[in-house]
Amino acid sequence: MTYVVGKPCVLCKYGDCVEVCPVECFFELENLLIIEPATCIDCSACEPVCPPQAITAGDRADAEYTALNAAGPFTEETKRTKKDQVKHGPNWDANLAGG
Ligand code: SF4
Ligand code: F3S
Repeated sequence: MTYVVGKPCVLCKYGDCVEVCPVECFFELENLLIIEPATCIDCSACEPVCPPQAITAGDRADAEYTALNAAGPFTEETKRTKKDQVKHGPNWDANLAGG
């Protein structure tokens, strides 16, 4: 039951999540970030740092987004560990952005 990135991340992508993950399991797709289920250790560190609250525990996650997160691709090119590697989308809101 790993954590899942859901709809509020779509076209948004703050990137705070990637910096707090101890096992580097975030990857970036065109419209949102995803969590690699095989790597996530359910630590919950990412859940409170996402401004639009896009990240939820798997047992509360939408099935469509659970499948999207699990599908990858999980590659060196899509892996993200620093906030400045993440491209903000058009729904990103500077008013919600923290340092
Ligand atoms: Fe990473 Fe923990 Fe979030 Fe899983 S729950 S993606 S291990 S920060
Ligand atoms: Fe997306 Fe939230 Fe991370 S908007 S990029 S899941 S901090």
